[in-house]
Amino acid sequence: MCYAIPGRVKAFDGKYITVDYFGEEKKAVNELSSLSVGDYVYAQGGFVITKVGKAEAESTLETWKDLFFELQAIDEKSVEISPWSGKKYVKVRGLMDQVLAGRRISREDIQYLLDISSAGEKEFLFSAANFLRQQHHKNSCCVHGIIEISNTCSEACHYCGISSFHKDLVRYRMTKDEILEAVRAAVEDHGFKALVLQSAEDPGRSVDELADIIATIKQRFGVLVFISFGEIGLEGLERLYAAGARGLLLRFETSDPALYAQLHPGCSLDERLAHLKKANELGYLIVTGSLIGLPGQTRESLARDIELAGELNVEMLSMGPFVPHPATPLAGLPSPSVEDVAQMLAVARFALNPDVKILVTTGFETLSPEARRMGLMAGANSVMLNATPVEKRALYNIYPGRAHQDDTIDAQIQGTIKMLEGLGRAPTDLSVGAI
Ligand code: 5AD
Repeated sequence: MCYAIPGRVKAFDGKYITVDYFGEEKKAVNELSSLSVGDYVYAQGGFVITKVGKAEAESTLETWKDLFFELQAIDEKSVEISPWSGKKYVKVRGLMDQVLAGRRISREDIQYLLDISSAGEKEFLFSAANFLRQQHHKNSCCVHGIIEISNTCSEACHYCGISSFHKDLVRYRMTKDEILEAVRAAVEDHGFKALVLQSAEDPGRSVDELADIIATIKQRFGVLVFISFGEIGLEGLERLYAAGARGLLLRFETSDPALYAQLHPGCSLDERLAHLKKANELGYLIVTGSLIGLPGQTRESLARDIELAGELNVEMLSMGPFVPHPATPLAGLPSPSVEDVAQMLAVARFALNPDVKILVTTGFETLSPEARRMGLMAGANSVMLNATPVEKRALYNIYPGRAHQDDTIDAQIQGTIKMLEGLGRAPTDLSVGAI
């Protein structure tokens, strides 16, 4: 768990430090050289991001003190489970108790949960997943920003609206200065502490250029950088880690190798997984997952998707619906239902290591204005806001009608904070100044 409120350094233990947040202790990897016990820091995703001055930290903590516990109380109330439904849905209740006892559920159990179709049992599954979320993460909700730096793509993924299938799409590639300005605005004006830099697989920008951009960001701004540039090669991953990137967002899209090969001409699932494994070895925080509702996908393969994400040491699960794009070979196919997506997230909450964060994806939000709330009440605890300059967003056209596409970052932040407060959740990757 990571709060974007300052924590107080309590102790050092090798490369780890212990940080105190209103009496709760968390461990974080420290890469700053000048840190002492008693200093205040912002930590994100288990990494110390930046040191905070004493006066600023103390005034921020003062602002947070009461709200912090008030929000926790609202959230705690929201997860109360009716004893009646617990008695009625014995199987789900039993699996929930198993997870609470620290034991993992089996493949058959994952399958059972994915097969639930009665409205009452599904509702209970969502409540139980919400309870499990609260037990391990309390009311924290990660709010990351994403900046889409290029839509110029050499790949032909069958579902993707910025693939080479989309012949008449205007292509862009933000310059280094444009990227630095977008990062500056996200960090300094809006308070983001964790940012994803995302791009299509753009042959027009070298790993050297990406490394230079990341190194400049790390030098100028206190922010945790996730990269999401597709398959940049194992050496590319090493170079960008050395430049300062600490997270990788790379979905494996499907765990079914034949379906993967069919949808990604010239590519293989093995190659994709090799990137994810290497990134994990290098120490990147792994954000991965799959698409839900691809043609030819089975329940078994979706169950396997959840397991595979776990095997890849996922830090944050990014699993969202396929949304058809008219300029691709999958045009006209249906998206999965909002309920089916929420069910996947809930089952993932049961099946994965309890520490895993689960994202409500923009794709999911695109299916329904209710999706975000629904996901957060079914085991999810993370959202991503679009910090790409507004004029570029429509061109990052992976699927039509993307949620929040035209909303300014201010509007997205305000909307998110309001919704989170209503649910009793505390945003943990934005500074208090932005609330
Ligand atoms: N529907 C939903 N998600 C999509 N992506 C690409 N195209 C689509 C689509 N049509 C997702 C892929 C990719 C991420 C950047 O966008 O999962 O990993």
